Amino acid sequence: MLDIAKVRADFPILSREVNGKPLVYLDNGASAQKPQVVIDTITRAYSYEYANVHRGLHYLSNVATEKYEGVRSTIARFLGVADEHQIVLNSGATEGINMIAYAWAMPRFQPGDEIVLSVMEHHANIVPWHFLRERQGVVLKWVDVDSSGALDPQAVIDAIGPKTRLVAITHLSNVLGTVVDVKAICDAARARGVPVLVDGSQAAVHMPVNVDDIGCDFYAITGHKLYGPSGSGAIFVHKDRLAEMRPFIGGGDMIREVTKDAVSYNDPPMKFEAGTPAIVPTIGLGTALEYMMTLGMENVAAHEVRLRDYAQARLGGLNWLQLQGDAPGKAAIFSFTLDGAGHAHDISTILDKKGVAVRAGHHCAQPLMEHLGVTATCRASFGLYNTEAEVDALVDALELCHDLLG
Ligand code: ALA
Repeated sequence: MLDIAKVRADFPILSREVNGKPLVYLDNGASAQKPQVVIDTITRAYSYEYANVHRGLHYLSNVATEKYEGVRSTIARFLGVADEHQIVLNSGATEGINMIAYAWAMPRFQPGDEIVLSVMEHHANIVPWHFLRERQGVVLKWVDVDSSGALDPQAVIDAIGPKTRLVAITHLSNVLGTVVDVKAICDAARARGVPVLVDGSQAAVHMPVNVDDIGCDFYAITGHKLYGPSGSGAIFVHKDRLAEMRPFIGGGDMIREVTKDAVSYNDPPMKFEAGTPAIVPTIGLGTALEYMMTLGMENVAAHEVRLRDYAQARLGGLNWLQLQGDAPGKAAIFSFTLDGAGHAHDISTILDKKGVAVRAGHHCAQPLMEHLGVTATCRASFGLYNTEAEVDALVDALELCHDLLG
């Protein structure tokens, strides 16, 4: 069980006030706050341990390279990946998914080939596939969620046909908190020879993830949501898919030899990591993941389940508030609109006056907004340091909104 007072003391920003009120940070879905150990890692790396990686033979370059490369195995351990050479370091899930679109899918997909997606994907797992639709005549096949926001894995499996070349699916919706049974989808897709890309940007933050057990081909994560620095991230690419991928971004580090007439490439994963990387953010991500593993992802998940149940009970008691999505086993992410209230931005502005930070808008998930019949929602997304008292603060602030706008 987490000692939440102790956990909160690890995050300096949680002690500050906003608009004269204690900060209640419920925008973790957008980006999470950083523990002191991550801030200290960044400060130490820039203060005493900084040089470029993979290039120099001098002391500092070796130190930085060792720390940077060590993160690859930390990520592999965090994600339950036995072979760390299947981890490609990058700036986050957006880059990771775009890399798969450009380096793996584009050279292989033909007009009329199909990609199966759910309607609750984040734009990062939609727009790269639209590129293939626009440029190559690939067809996007959409699978709806039900009225609770649940995604029936069988509906995804049923959408797989003879022309399906990829299933691209979120593990956990950033808007509804719905958790998807990606293992069931991967099992069925594998039996049909169809690769699966899982967008793990949200799931890896809230629950233990074992990619080898899921059996997907690609699994994307983003460092800044994982209590690490922005600009860090990674994607797991199964070794068979790595072997099929053409190089993505060209430059230093990804080559073996360059002449005037020819180029040969480094082995994966370096083949897909051109140029000077986000050295210090990546080292910071390693510290963030070690921090989470020390807390224990089972403990993090159990704490967030308690928060979810409490928040669901309190928010569900507000009969003028419409909650979007109550799929069984969902995460502590709540999207809502208010009877008679103006735009979601008005609600979030009032909440902010009470020190409560939420996101308002379409959450980079416009097809889901269309499916729900709304243009925008407010979203309270909880993290490992949130408390039941903060749920109460959210409810108090919403009651004020209702009085002012309702
Ligand atoms: N993907 C982030 C969110 O859901 C930005 O808010």
